[in-house]
Amino acid sequence: MRLLTVLCFLWLSVGVFARHFPLKVKNVADFNYVATPCSSNTSSAWLDIILLIDNSATMGNASLRQIGLSLSSEFSQYTIGPYGSSASRVAIVTYNAGANLIGDFNALSTIQKITAALTSIRQTNVVQIEYGLYDALEIARDMAQLAYEQCTSENGFYHQPNPAAVVLFGAQAPFVDSIDKITQVANQLKSWANLITVNYNVNSVDLTNFLNSIATPYMNLSVSKTLYDDLEFNLMQTNCFCDFGPQLSAFDPVKNRVVKYAECSYNSEELGLTWGTAEALCNSYQSNVVLAPLTSSLRYNFTVSIYQNALPGFMVDPIYIGLHRNSRKAWVWYDYDGSEIPDSGSFSNWAPGYGFNSTGDCVAIQGGNAEKSSSYLWINAACNITTTNIDNARCGYHACDASNMYQSALAGLNHRCVIFESDVKKKKAFEARRKLLKETRKNKNKA
Ligand SMILES: *[C@@H]1O[C@H](CO)[C@@H](O)[C@H](O)[C@H]1NC(C)=O
Ligand SMILES: *[C@@H]1O[C@H](CO)[C@@H](O)[C@H](O)[C@H]1NC(C)=O
Ligand SMILES: *[C@@H]1O[C@H](CO)[C@@H](O)[C@H](O)[C@H]1NC(C)=O
Ligand SMILES: *[C@@H]1O[C@H](CO)[C@@H](O)[C@H](O)[C@H]1NC(C)=O
Ligand SMILES: *[C@@H]1O[C@H](CO)[C@@H](O)[C@H](O)[C@H]1NC(C)=O
Ligand SMILES: *[C@@H]1O[C@H](CO)[C@@H](O)[C@H](O)[C@H]1NC(C)=O
Repeated sequence: MRLLTVLCFLWLSVGVFARHFPLKVKNVADFNYVATPCSSNTSSAWLDIILLIDNSATMGNASLRQIGLSLSSEFSQYTIGPYGSSASRVAIVTYNAGANLIGDFNALSTIQKITAALTSIRQTNVVQIEYGLYDALEIARDMAQLAYEQCTSENGFYHQPNPAAVVLFGAQAPFVDSIDKITQVANQLKSWANLITVNYNVNSVDLTNFLNSIATPYMNLSVSKTLYDDLEFNLMQTNCFCDFGPQLSAFDPVKNRVVKYAECSYNSEELGLTWGTAEALCNSYQSNVVLAPLTSSLRYNFTVSIYQNALPGFMVDPIYIGLHRNSRKAWVWYDYDGSEIPDSGSFSNWAPGYGFNSTGDCVAIQGGNAEKSSSYLWINAACNITTTNIDNARCGYHACDASNMYQSALAGLNHRCVIFESDVKKKKAFEARRKLLKETRKNKNKA
């Protein structure tokens, strides 16, 4: 059973929230839900977690005991194991006047070792943390960077690794004149990791302002009844990212935070693919990339906002999406595994004169050639791109998350979620993209 924190001065009046996903998410078997949530399965998470724990006298033995027990309980739900497996790793650093590495990923190789280390942390007599926090963040930065580089260089595969999660438990603010230096290290660290801060002394305005300013946006937590639920949520959000292209996210007004979903997308043109049918525009590189399913207004709005925010001259129009008539003439979408999902009819955005009964077995969204068009409405189009001359498609794939580690059959064993078969293909794709953009700009200047 989860051990909840006893210190709950805050948010007592807020009541009980839905634990993870605020927006109504239907059964995954029903494709017409709002969007795919990031996996919350901690036992299959593959995260590098670095704990930085203030053990000054200000934190005190009681809080340290509570942190140790709560974290031990949290990590007992994870699979602790070596790098390259579907498992997580934990490292612990305490800080006061200086920083002390209690155990790195190798030393803390089992949940027993992690629990023993966590529950033996005691307060020191140090009243001022001085440079301890700076040193602790430097240790975390170097560890996170090393893990990141280990990941990018695996067998020559080139891909975006999962960021590490650095969790900073703070009880006191650093000296005013060291804040700039500490902030600098925190910013460096955020190239390789999410920085989750946990405020254990909410009465200190200095500490609160400081932690809020260095945390990854929306990852500033404080002591409350829901602290360890919030922490778990942020850890699982960290273990949910896109190898390429933007990630679907939405603001949750109840929890006052941005929620990432396990969905990534990009425009086919970004890969310079211009042959075959509409379907082939997306899956030429990998079979796990499909024409984007825009089955809900959340998915549709997000896609439209990407095109609306495109730089002038980079606007593309129209753009194929995943809705199409299959060989039995039924209207279906592609799911991320390539399977067919019938359209429920619950969400559509047809332009006047177009619809389910119109000619054209594929569907494209069209902004009417106006830059930053507000409406990208649906039009029917043939699926043969030679006939339509439409060479853009919105492509989508399932994000890398706890349920999706070995995404690519082509990538071989032990690869942490890759969408490109090899760095060679990825480089070629980016070269094609650069060439295409150059030509687009040239043509635009001529016009
Ligand atoms: C969570 O992951 C484990 C593997 O670590 C798996 O056995 C289990 O079925 C998963 N649970 C869910 C709800 O998917
Ligand atoms: C904190 O706990 C340790 C170990 O139990 C003990 O030796 C120490 O005196 C405690 N410190 C305070 C200030 O209570
Ligand atoms: C996180 O930081 C933001 C901006 O500084 C602040 O509005 C919010 O209250 C903070 N959240 C918590 C839980 O402290
Ligand atoms: C999408 O945008 C429309 C129009 O602005 C809005 O009415 C709708 O609520 C949005 N949907 C979501 C899920 O935000
Ligand atoms: C499409 O055609 C079918 C059969 O002709 C008809 O029942 C249906 O109402 C039509 N749908 C629309 C949206 O016009
Ligand atoms: C697409 O259209 C072109 C030109 O009409 C034709 O040559 C080609 O065979 C068609 N491709 C498919 C897959 O139908």
